[in-house]
Amino acid sequence: MVKILIIHGPNLDLLGKREQGIYGKITLQQINNTLKDIGKARKVKLKIMQSNHEGEIVSIIGRAKNEFNAILINPAAYTHTSVAIRDAILASGLPVVEVHLSNIYAREEFRQKSLISPVVRGGVYGFGINSYTLGLNAAILLARDNAQKRR
Ligand code: DQA
Repeated sequence: MVKILIIHGPNLDLLGKREQGIYGKITLQQINNTLKDIGKARKVKLKIMQSNHEGEIVSIIGRAKNEFNAILINPAAYTHTSVAIRDAILASGLPVVEVHLSNIYAREEFRQKSLISPVVRGGVYGFGINSYTLGLNAAILLARDNAQKRR
């Protein structure tokens, strides 16, 4: 069974309470339950984590290479600032899908630059929870492809 690592970055634990006008009422728990349902239906193993700490995210990506076939990440605010997460993704050699609930290109100027996008295979943004479900489906394709190459 292929394995996908799902990483939620800082403040995403506050979804449902945080800036509802932008992110809606959906909670992280609801997003994770939906992702787990997809994982079960598609027979894919998921490991889901959320962290407010850049170094923890870097370390987890650093250990992912041998255990996972792909990564789905919403780097949240670190999207716009983190050279360290970008470098960790490059070092992992894993196929990565970047997701955002909101359309970061339609928001403040400082959000319109992603340091992560140039080092991922692709991204989905602007569709709320559907960014995650579409992103997971893309990650499943990439993970299966990657697992086949490793055999
Ligand atoms: C976000 C967009 C980021 O700019 C912001 O810092 C977030 C959430 C999104 O999912 O739309 O925390 O990644």
